[in-house]
Amino acid sequence: MTTTNSDLIGRDDVDDLEAILSVSNTDKDEVVHEVRSNFDTIFTWDYEKGGRPKLDRLYEKAKTSMWNAQTDLPWDTEVDQEAVVIANTAPMGGPAGGMDFTGTPFEKWTEKEWIQLGVESQNWTLSQFMHGEQGALVCTAKIVESVPWIDAKYYAATQTMDEARHVEVFAKYLDEKLSGHYPINAHLRMLLDDIIQDSRWDMTYLGMQIMVEGLALAAFGFMHTLTTEPLLKQLLRYVMSDEARHVAFGVLSLQDYYKELTDAEMRERQEFAFEAAVRMRDRFLQQEVWERMGLPVKESIELVQRAPDRPMFQAMLFAKIVPNCKKLGLLDASQGWLRHRFEELGVIQFEDWADTGEEYDAFALANGEIAAA
Ligand SMILES: [Fe+2]
Ligand SMILES: [Fe+2]
Repeated sequence: MTTTNSDLIGRDDVDDLEAILSVSNTDKDEVVHEVRSNFDTIFTWDYEKGGRPKLDRLYEKAKTSMWNAQTDLPWDTEVDQEAVVIANTAPMGGPAGGMDFTGTPFEKWTEKEWIQLGVESQNWTLSQFMHGEQGALVCTAKIVESVPWIDAKYYAATQTMDEARHVEVFAKYLDEKLSGHYPINAHLRMLLDDIIQDSRWDMTYLGMQIMVEGLALAAFGFMHTLTTEPLLKQLLRYVMSDEARHVAFGVLSLQDYYKELTDAEMRERQEFAFEAAVRMRDRFLQQEVWERMGLPVKESIELVQRAPDRPMFQAMLFAKIVPNCKKLGLLDASQGWLRHRFEELGVIQFEDWADTGEEYDAFALANGEIAAA
């Protein structure tokens, strides 16, 4: 069985920029997006609560960790987006980055353009977070229907509520504190469509809880550390406390199930995980921001990719995904197929970092942390 990159991701070279940019969102005014999904809805008559003790514990934890998006965050905080951009200087960017821009589209840029880039970049990033959160909302509602165990149905019901709250906070922050929305990125939409379309119940978990939410947890963590804006910082802190539980839900649900799968079945999961990783990596290029700034997209991305801190920054986003895949046996099944792919993507160095099945408690909000808002 030889599956090529071309079969999986539509191109041979994962870094083929031309091919990545040829996928773009051509329906920017779309309001409703339909995806046909075909799967079995499962009832279970086995109501024994706690049959899966780890999931039961997660469910009990979720019930006491709910917060209210409208009342628990300090929405009256004044946000001056440009001042925040200046204070937080974008990681790749600006004259401060020390790169030589002679002969490039950035050559004549003044501080004004660099700030504008930071503003657009933030609008774009938070917009994609919001769209991804809606993906999580829909996927987790699907898990309520498709997973065969009562403890998992209970837990997924709490996660569905969490995700509604996450969509709500990002939408509110974008509307009230930032300066514009972006439509969903085509690579992200393609990934969400693939996850929803798959009829196998565990693929929803693998695509959403392990891959998308694993990346989100790392990305939120990054932004939480970097931002000096107190409302956003607190918002991310709350969202991350939920998100760590969600990733743990994926790990704890799939762990035993994947032990029973054949090598061929595991290989299908590995390929799915690889495809998801590449789609998310393609999304980081934020092609729509360059378009909106009126810059040549390919040239701008090539430049940004050359920033010295870029490889580290991109790789860090996989810091949760790789150890979780290892815990599920996905790295080494099928003669280490996914291990080799992660080596090629330059992210294998995280394999022995803490997996989220163990560390989610560390993200929990402390007693009184919500009231302190
Ligand atoms: Fe979420
Ligand atoms: Fe989540």
